[in-house]
Amino acid sequence: MASPMTVDNPDYRDSGLRFPDEFVLGSATAAYQIEGAVDEDGRGASIWDTFSHTPGAVQNGDTGDVADDHYHRLESDLDLIASLGLDAYRFSIAWPRIQPTGRGPANPAGLAFYKRLVDGLLQRGVTPVATLYHWDLPQALEDEGGWRNRQTAYAFADYARIVGGALGDRVAVWTTLNEPWCSAFLGHGSGEHAPGWQDNAEALTAAHHLNLAHGLGVSALREVISATAQISVTHNLHVIRGDAESVRRIEAVGNRIFTGPMLHGAYPADLLADTLPLTDWSFVKPGDLELIHQPIDVLGINYYNTTLVGPAAGAASRASAFPGTDDIPRLDQPGPFTEMDWNIEPSGLLQLLAATHAEFPDLPLMITESGAAFDDVATVDDHGVSRVHDADRVDYLRRHFTAAHRALQAGIDLRGYFVWSLMDNFEWAYGYSKRFGIVRVDYETQERTLKDSALWYRELIAERRIP
Ligand code: FCB
Repeated sequence: MASPMTVDNPDYRDSGLRFPDEFVLGSATAAYQIEGAVDEDGRGASIWDTFSHTPGAVQNGDTGDVADDHYHRLESDLDLIASLGLDAYRFSIAWPRIQPTGRGPANPAGLAFYKRLVDGLLQRGVTPVATLYHWDLPQALEDEGGWRNRQTAYAFADYARIVGGALGDRVAVWTTLNEPWCSAFLGHGSGEHAPGWQDNAEALTAAHHLNLAHGLGVSALREVISATAQISVTHNLHVIRGDAESVRRIEAVGNRIFTGPMLHGAYPADLLADTLPLTDWSFVKPGDLELIHQPIDVLGINYYNTTLVGPAAGAASRASAFPGTDDIPRLDQPGPFTEMDWNIEPSGLLQLLAATHAEFPDLPLMITESGAAFDDVATVDDHGVSRVHDADRVDYLRRHFTAAHRALQAGIDLRGYFVWSLMDNFEWAYGYSKRFGIVRVDYETQERTLKDSALWYRELIAERRIP
């Protein structure tokens, strides 16, 4: 039962709340952000190798060439994961390690790395949760048109079949795509992410081909993985507040463009109407919606912040991360803010979970990412032990775990929460300037230090109660 405090406390700082034993408490990373070893054991180049080596694309010219050197530190990183007591670990598989050019037979050394990772997790009692695509498209496929090319969706299904066939007996949850909105629209609309295109029509084309890749990938996985393994997809569903018509338009192109075809079997009519000035949608071929609309077992949700919008003013004209909506002003929101300048708003997480559950009442939900970047300060205590007193991150996590708990209390079928991120890593266009980890990484020495947030999370997991 909800105590009065959990209902009335407006700042979401409820401690002492208990999570059921079956609620999955995990943490997440992604291949390009942590692995490094970009030229080793037959790995091919990805669009993020190309992009990060493009002058001006990433802050400070940072690249993922070394990152957290996780590829070489797998065993000790597995021990780190075990030391936190995580129920589950969400990682991604680098497609160019498995198929260096995005097509053809599997590279045995690439598969072997992920087998060691998965087996190492299982030996330590940690459940493996694998994402097939966290943005590192093989560059050879980009050279053939990348996600603008329909054939990439079929190549993805072949890749899914290879990996599912090799690891399908030991991975508990398979996620096809991480945040296809970012791949489509940061990659092809705003151009902030690889491959760095700025073209609304191409961005919408890419979104459809990502949807198709998801559907074909689900079907391919079902053929090869064990009957008990679950299939999911992860979306960064945007929580948009403010002017109702602006909210509708941004939700259409930001959220429903993916959830519509994947989970309802159709593109929303208002989205098609809104985007007609940009594209005639002729890239949608007969039968595509049936291919995309595959049953999934759990829906992954990544949540960081909210967006406040005003009424449209003027006309949309630019390439944008929400194609066709640059006439809608983004308004300032109250703080506090993280180092990303993202507002800290735990009520947004509860709102998102409630809205998603209301729309898809039979679909279990999983928070596959939530966390925060702060300007951490590393210190050494009186005993010579390295410390990071990241009180702001502890507070962020406490408030968002409280929101997750309130969702459970409200009867929402929420299965787990994965903290982003296990350790500091390559934060895409921001390079190493933003630290999201609960474990600090010293990029000079590759030393890992448990921040106070990791100690806090370890206690939460051990006690199954918010400290
Ligand atoms: C998400 C990404 C993840 C990380 C966090 C901060 O959009 O999935 O890789 O960069 O944001």
